[in-house]
Amino acid sequence: MIRFESDELKNLDTASLQLLVPLHGVLMGKEIVDNWERVEQFQARPDDVLISTYPKAGTTWMSEIVDMIFCDGDPEKCRRETIYNRVPYLEFRIPGEPSGVEQLEATPSPRLVKTHLPIKLMPDSFWGKNCKVIYVARNAKDVAVSYFFFHKMVKALPDPGPWDKFLDDYIKGDVGYGSWYDHVIGWWEKRNDYRILYLFYEDMKEDPKREIRKILHFLEKEMREEVIDKIVHHTSFQEMKNNDMVNYKTIPNELMDQSTTSFMRKGIAGDWKNHFTVSQNEIFDEDYKKKMSGTNLHFRMEI
Ligand code: A3P
Repeated sequence: MIRFESDELKNLDTASLQLLVPLHGVLMGKEIVDNWERVEQFQARPDDVLISTYPKAGTTWMSEIVDMIFCDGDPEKCRRETIYNRVPYLEFRIPGEPSGVEQLEATPSPRLVKTHLPIKLMPDSFWGKNCKVIYVARNAKDVAVSYFFFHKMVKALPDPGPWDKFLDDYIKGDVGYGSWYDHVIGWWEKRNDYRILYLFYEDMKEDPKREIRKILHFLEKEMREEVIDKIVHHTSFQEMKNNDMVNYKTIPNELMDQSTTSFMRKGIAGDWKNHFTVSQNEIFDEDYKKKMSGTNLHFRMEI
């Protein structure tokens, strides 16, 4: 379990954690790259359920939904632990704490696994074991805004600089986990080759119950109407914002400073309109059109 109590962590040089280095052409945290061999050789189990996203697409939201399903809709069972211990983050590693791989090895089945890896970097074992994957995609502009604020909050990420510069880096894919385009398109193109349920944040906002039903169907589970309603309620933005088991307030301030912006920041579709200037939007749209041409993957930019 990650407890953030080790001495190593107390004396941590956060600058060393902020380094991004390329791994097979994708920028990733140096800590992750240094631990890569263990991730690559990770042994999946057939009943593992993987929650995969580009950062800021609604990972925590989906993790809580799926854990609620696994707990038969009992919110008290979901309060047993923090979300990062209930749904370990496969490739993650922070000095002095168990890595995601170590956490998962110690987790009894059925396991929920979180990852932000682009599909080309996924350990083969997940495909060999035919694991189910729930992928959540969120529109590129809201992800850019959310990722910018996340960089300001998380001390293990590089300083994003001003919004204009961050947006530029993001468009080029010069951020952790690389290009949003490569990520969402990569997973989209393989969605019929493996057992992948590809969902959208905007659809979840529009009708969470409808999307939860899709998840239940995919996981081959049935639930009574009232239980589904309970899951919808427990995983609403307001409930999750006030729930310390999911809002990351258990992470020490030296690693995640939520004093100016919080992890559960706004939780809406379309906030980009409050941050993109007209000219940034034009540049973004032009580039978007080029990068998305040739795919039949469509996003709603607001709801
Ligand atoms: P914002 O920064 O736009 O508010 P991730 O878990 O992948 O890091 O994604 C975090 C984003 O999901 C944040 O977006 C956060 O507010 C939003 N989020 C978390 N829980 C949510 C919920 N229950 N409903 C809607 N959005 C949620």
